[in-house]
Amino acid sequence: MGTKTDEYERFVNPAWSDVVQLAGLNTKPVSASGSWITMQGGSRFLDFVSGYGAMPFGHHLPALLYRLSNDLHSPLPNLNPLGISFDAGALAAQLIELSGLPDGKVYFGSSGVEAVDAALKFAMVHTRRKGILTIGGGFHGLSHTATWLAGNSFWRRNLTPPPEDFKQVDFGDVAAIRAHLARKDVAAVLLEPVQGTAGARVWNREDLADIASECDLYGTVLIFDEILSGLGRTGDWFAYQTLRASPPQMVLLSKALTGGLFPVSAVLMRNSIYQSMFGREGAAKIHGSTFSGNRLGMRCGLHVLTLLRELKLRMNVCTQGERLRNGIEHAGASLGLRCDGIGLALSIRTTPECLRHLGDAVAARLWHALLNKNVLTIPAAHDPASIRLLPPLNVTASEIDFFIQAYEAALLDMQNEQEAT
Ligand SMILES: Cc1ncc(COP(=O)(O)O)c(C=O)c1O
Repeated sequence: MGTKTDEYERFVNPAWSDVVQLAGLNTKPVSASGSWITMQGGSRFLDFVSGYGAMPFGHHLPALLYRLSNDLHSPLPNLNPLGISFDAGALAAQLIELSGLPDGKVYFGSSGVEAVDAALKFAMVHTRRKGILTIGGGFHGLSHTATWLAGNSFWRRNLTPPPEDFKQVDFGDVAAIRAHLARKDVAAVLLEPVQGTAGARVWNREDLADIASECDLYGTVLIFDEILSGLGRTGDWFAYQTLRASPPQMVLLSKALTGGLFPVSAVLMRNSIYQSMFGREGAAKIHGSTFSGNRLGMRCGLHVLTLLRELKLRMNVCTQGERLRNGIEHAGASLGLRCDGIGLALSIRTTPECLRHLGDAVAARLWHALLNKNVLTIPAAHDPASIRLLPPLNVTASEIDFFIQAYEAALLDMQNEQEAT
């Protein structure tokens, strides 16, 4: 959100700066609190992007900042000599307990994509196979390897195509997954229980159970990427719990884990996978990274878990998620608009019926119309028919009502535009 003259424009990403300004966001934020961002000139925006799901408490939760400021001033080292991290132990213990992974271990990284990369490596070492199976529409980050996993070839333009061993099946196609696994060369199936980038597409319980039993049968590691959906967004600690599925062999977390303040990710894995990697002779440090388990990141993660519990946010997700879904459906159903997703991982999906009432390119125009009503949402990169809503988990009823009013007004503007053509 820069102006034409600032350093971001000159030295970081002028192309993106142009896109953002073209969309009409040509002022800078001057402050942010909870679900709101205030811009230069005083206009306020409702932020339903939440750092792409990385801010469960929205902006600047005082209780989190206060707790973390004590850690900042602690005399303890942030990076302990030789990499032993005591706070990592405390955070890992809680994550394993919440996940229900029997006898689990945790590897901590920084970004989400680092967790994805580590998980593939662990699965390959554990199974001694090279095959990776991913799902159409999925998104797992943008490192070079992760572009091979993406469920949309857009991210692979001018790059090395995926290796032969990396395969993809359509969302929901359990039979295709079974057929791949039967060849017994697949190290891991990597899937998001809720596909955010594809517009909050949710797997159903039965399919997840079938995939898990096929993975067991053929010795393949099942990895759930919960980097977006984990830690409360679906109303439980993990989306697989909301979907009543069993814990898989590995679970990936990041985003919400540190409240949007520190880049931290976590690979939760069954002990047998940990042993295959680190339990070998001379291999206790065979995988790692400089900032793995850094004290501030771990402390931040511990505070986030405490605050998620203290503020009863999982309950708030269910209540406000329902309010938001009902409001969206009430306002848009007659125009052919649907609400998809679970908890506060939601999307507004357009259907062919919208064409008659609202014209074409409805999702893109709706995104823009909401922006004009001071509401920030996310176009779904893997589904041009959807926009994504990721409110903070502490969103209030009055903020949901503000959104619904803006949505109704945006739809009215679009209907008027359509009638005028
Ligand atoms: C499901 C999922 N996996 C992985 C990633 C990559 O995380 P990061 O951007 O921190 O590398 C993302 C990012 O949006 C994501 O949504």
